[in-house]
Amino acid sequence: MKLTNEELREKINEYKKKLSVTVVAHFYQRDEVFEMGDITGDSLELAIKTKEDKSDYVVFCGVGFMGQSVKVLSPNKRVVMPKAACCAMATMIDGMQFDASVKTLNEAGIPNENILPITYINSNAEVKAKVAQMGGMVCTSSNAKKIITKALEEGKKILFVPDRCLGQNIANQMGLKSCVIGDGSNPAESDIICFNGFCSVHQLFSVDDINFYRKKYPGILIVVHPECDPAICDAADFVGSTSQIIKYIKELPEEQKVAVGTEFNLVNRLRPKNTYVLSSTKPECPTMNETTLQDLYDILKSIDEGAPLNEIHVDEETQKWAKIALERMLAL
Ligand code: 13P
Ligand code: SF4
Repeated sequence: MKLTNEELREKINEYKKKLSVTVVAHFYQRDEVFEMGDITGDSLELAIKTKEDKSDYVVFCGVGFMGQSVKVLSPNKRVVMPKAACCAMATMIDGMQFDASVKTLNEAGIPNENILPITYINSNAEVKAKVAQMGGMVCTSSNAKKIITKALEEGKKILFVPDRCLGQNIANQMGLKSCVIGDGSNPAESDIICFNGFCSVHQLFSVDDINFYRKKYPGILIVVHPECDPAICDAADFVGSTSQIIKYIKELPEEQKVAVGTEFNLVNRLRPKNTYVLSSTKPECPTMNETTLQDLYDILKSIDEGAPLNEIHVDEETQKWAKIALERMLAL
């Protein structure tokens, strides 16, 4: 018989008391799953907080690269995911495509010793490992500007993967020249050369949406995530990562209207009043939404029965190098 959400919550809490587990949930999870999180946050906060965690199992409610980052940073931990959900952007680049991007730069006259690769944390461990092997590191949307500033001190060209929007937005903020591989421009003329990956959820917002809200509610503030297109970020009042958006909105006066361009579940729980989703289409991340309370219950049950489902494994060599890429970021 199918259990109700109330019954599932009760059973999940019983398992949480009985087992050595920590439930970790990203801000984009469904409300009922998010509420079960012992550790919650954006991708950077989850990577940092989970590293300190002492339980035997991390039950990660999010997408694959996030759970994988926990495993890479703490290889002795057992990391399981209630749903083996993948971030669509992270699947846009693998090791071979990374190598092909480096080759494109080489063909444009940029030798490997003049390339410093940076990968957004939304990438798989294989890509993070390759980035580390070339002296590069990981960034998240919270610290991308800081990481790129540091990287530029080496006087090299930055190969930024996989999110072209984040790469271009940071370049615009810093007054640097950027291009996207395959856009017809010469990479040798750019400071930041971006891979052509993107987040389909954050592509839903348009300048028309911004104009619509500004006309409807004069004085409204437009707040967006840097995975949105540069045209959207240029037109917005504030651009920030998930936790930067939360902090910015928390500090606004209650009567200040705000339209937010990021994932629906997060926007929906930001503030009871005067908060709008910057799109007529519901911007839900389909894979973040895959995880249900039933999945969380099933995975805890599988741990209790000694046969955990969806456990994350990363081979030793990839883990070693991907950890270096993540730790270079954490050190900053
Ligand atoms: P954060 O780094 O802001 O958590 O973003 C992760 C993500 O996938 C955004 O789409
Ligand atoms: Fe990936 Fe976009 Fe979903 Fe974030 S919102 S997890 S970038 S697909």
